[in-house]
Amino acid sequence: MSRLYAIGDLHLHFQTDVKAKAQQTDPLWAGHEQVFRRQCLSLLRPEDTLVLAGDHSWGRNLAECRQDLDYISALPGRKILLRGNHDMFWDAKKTAALNRQFAGSLHFLQNNYFSYRDYALTGTKGYCFEGPFYLDARRRIVGWDEEAAEHARKIVEREAQRLRLSLEAARTDGYRKMILFLHYPPTSILEKDSVFTRLAEEYGAEQVIYAHCHGESRFHDSILGMKNGVRYSLVSGDFRRWVPLRVL
Ligand SMILES: [Fe+2]
Ligand SMILES: [Fe+2]
Repeated sequence: MSRLYAIGDLHLHFQTDVKAKAQQTDPLWAGHEQVFRRQCLSLLRPEDTLVLAGDHSWGRNLAECRQDLDYISALPGRKILLRGNHDMFWDAKKTAALNRQFAGSLHFLQNNYFSYRDYALTGTKGYCFEGPFYLDARRRIVGWDEEAAEHARKIVEREAQRLRLSLEAARTDGYRKMILFLHYPPTSILEKDSVFTRLAEEYGAEQVIYAHCHGESRFHDSILGMKNGVRYSLVSGDFRRWVPLRVL
């Protein structure tokens, strides 16, 4: 029986400089490419599926991501990639072209879905408002940048449309069981729910898997565990300590 795994935020950099300070200084990131590969080699079999939930590479274009994508291709099993905010190589309008170019080695999830047994694997990058927030002396949020919040609302709306395309494509093809993947957390630190949680419930997704949150202080930014019949899981690589989450 095949198995479904997920992890995100590999932030590979075989051809480019690392741009995040934590990645240069936190021991958790030291040699993480080797640690993660070892985990995959021991966990994954050729018939398994691994969803990589965005932020694959620091490369600014496809040429600078070659070795990073080769590294992912060489991992065992079928690899499905989601677009992260750092994935500059992935033009949102050219997902179909990426799927043609990497046919047989990598699969790119946006405005489409992939099947896994009787499940549809759906998803999009997603988005949520991340500030700037204004804090008082006790570090409680007392306000935020309204212009940035308005900009975030537009991106959330666009991503919700992309997610709806993915979910509708799966539903049209007769899928009733869904797993929903996002790069961004489904809710901001100000929200209890969002258009993404509502879509998950509307389409009957059993699980929402997301990444993007790095470092201890961000791991609880959004929903974890069961809420309204949906299981929410964070799979950023450092949160998972480079062990892919068994989803199914
Ligand atoms: Fe990331
Ligand atoms: Fe990210």
